[in-house]
Amino acid sequence: MKVFVVGGAGYIGSHVVHELIDSNHEVTILDNLSLGLKENIHPGAQFIEGDMRNELDLEAALDSSFDIVFHLGALKAAGDSMIHPEVYAKNNINGSINLLNAMSKSNVKKIIFSSSAAVYGEPEYLPIDEKHKVQPINFYGYTKSSIEDTIDWYSRLKQFNYAFLRYFNATGYDMKGRIMGKERGTNNLSPIVMEVLVGMRDKLTVFGRDYETPDGTCLRDYIHVNDLATAHLKSMNYILEKKQNLTVNLGTGKTYSVLDLISATEKVSGKKIAYDIGARRPGDTASLVADSSLAYELLQWKPKYADIEEIMNSMLRVYLS
Ligand code: UD1
Repeated sequence: MKVFVVGGAGYIGSHVVHELIDSNHEVTILDNLSLGLKENIHPGAQFIEGDMRNELDLEAALDSSFDIVFHLGALKAAGDSMIHPEVYAKNNINGSINLLNAMSKSNVKKIIFSSSAAVYGEPEYLPIDEKHKVQPINFYGYTKSSIEDTIDWYSRLKQFNYAFLRYFNATGYDMKGRIMGKERGTNNLSPIVMEVLVGMRDKLTVFGRDYETPDGTCLRDYIHVNDLATAHLKSMNYILEKKQNLTVNLGTGKTYSVLDLISATEKVSGKKIAYDIGARRPGDTASLVADSSLAYELLQWKPKYADIEEIMNSMLRVYLS
């Protein structure tokens, strides 16, 4: 397949591109390098530096020779999205509309869209399946759900065919050690733990230890980025073969607390992580866990790496390099 990957130099995008090229697909990446890294781009991919916010960049890069688009070009800091919604609206929402319109113009009507568990908002029950109400509580989550809605309308009105992949907490680095560039400007727990480990930060603040969880810190479903990448390929095959749309959660169904992540990292590295306990972070929910049985059923996809020590170990190689 000839695949156009928006955000292919980013953290998840670069892993997806490696998986695509491993499976002999031809890949063109469009990335503005605002957060993506040149060093993480697979040497076998064609790279175009361009921005989704600019319609002309998309129209110049995307022609009718492509079979499908993978859209991983988004800003993803949920907290920041509440302070700077206009930046997220422009990048995530306007950028996606430009992409859909460029796809429509060039008659490329298949899309794999990186969505998020953030579309669900405060869980009404756990584990969360795809039937759970979509009711985001942060602007980042709203951008994802509104793009899902728009793609769904394009499916009805313009015969688009889509897969929405609702990721839980993406983490880890390539198990084969091919992607070594560290995420820039991160707000997520696991890279922050690594930055403390290697001295890029003095300490970590644990956001709240008074939740109704076994150790008082929040529980999350950490899904390894290589497992996310394989789910993208399986989703592509599914929508191409079945010509049906797909909406699936991608998680392991297992949870770890903030303190679990810290102690797993201490164990695999043999070093102490300096942390203190701070206030709860607004918008955080005590527990978030996926019911991914639909992905197992429809895609025969199962995560390979659900052990937190193995996951943190894959990050260690990158941060100690
Ligand atoms: C959020 C989004 C998720 C998105 C992800 C990507 C929601 C509900 N979830 O996940 O969809 O894909 O961001 O950015 O909006 N923590 C600390 N100290 C820190 C950082 C984090 O204690 O310095 C804690 C948080 O309170 C949380 C856990 O670590 O309990 C994970 O946080 P984070 O990595 O930011 O991801 P989420 O907020 O769960």
